[in-house]
Amino acid sequence: MQPVRETYSRTQIMLHWAVVALIAFQYLGSDGIEDAWRAYARGEYTQDDFSGPALAHVLSGITVLVLVIWRLVLRWKVGAPPPDPAEPPALQMLARVAHFALYALIIILPLSGMLGWGGGVSGAVRVHLLAKTILLPLIGLHVLGALVHHFVWKTDVLKRMLSPAKG
Ligand code: HEM
Ligand code: HEM
Repeated sequence: MQPVRETYSRTQIMLHWAVVALIAFQYLGSDGIEDAWRAYARGEYTQDDFSGPALAHVLSGITVLVLVIWRLVLRWKVGAPPPDPAEPPALQMLARVAHFALYALIIILPLSGMLGWGGGVSGAVRVHLLAKTILLPLIGLHVLGALVHHFVWKTDVLKRMLSPAKG
């Protein structure tokens, strides 16, 4: 049973926003890895073609995996705030499912990337592409939820992911 707390810890907040920044980079800076993968698929890839932008995608993606594992260990050890009790039960459940799916996808993405890139498994790259397609609308839903909480329902849900202080 995980401990229940009022807010996220400073480290949990730092990790959440560091992962957001890295994932934004993964989407906005994926041209290099796409070119490198196409060259690899044509058999034209050599270690020298492993350009800066492709390397950045790989290293940033692996960093996401390390930070997510850290986050999950921390969540297990120190817990996380429960959904807002004033929220309808169906929406509380939706928030839990969305958080679970976000965690699952940001683990599947680096793992499938590594298997595809490092192991040359093209099926893994197909999983990677499917996962990146599902992740984007899910992030949209998640951000919408956070903004509705803050601006419409005027709860502290967004504040607790911005500052470890209560209130
Ligand atoms: C959370 C981590 C990651 C995210 C969010 C992510 C996201 C993306 C995105 C958005 C693309 C562009 C796909 C497209 O539009 O065609 C892409 C392509 C690719 N990624 Fe990642 N990636 C991550 C981690 C990794 C890692 C760690 C590796 C390898 C070690 C990797 C290998 C690849 C490869 C080989 C492609 C090219 C696939 C293609 O164009 O067909 N990715 N990734
Ligand atoms: C790459 C994009 C994002 C990912 C993968 C992501 C992932 C997550 C995950 C997995 C959680 C659950 C944390 C836990 O309880 O262990 C969470 C919480 C949260 N996220 Fe994000 N997030 C992203 C972007 C954002 C953005 C842009 C915002 C703000 C507009 C945001 C606001 C929040 C808030 C307020 C919480 C706390 C929700 C609560 O305590 O009920 N997230 N996020």
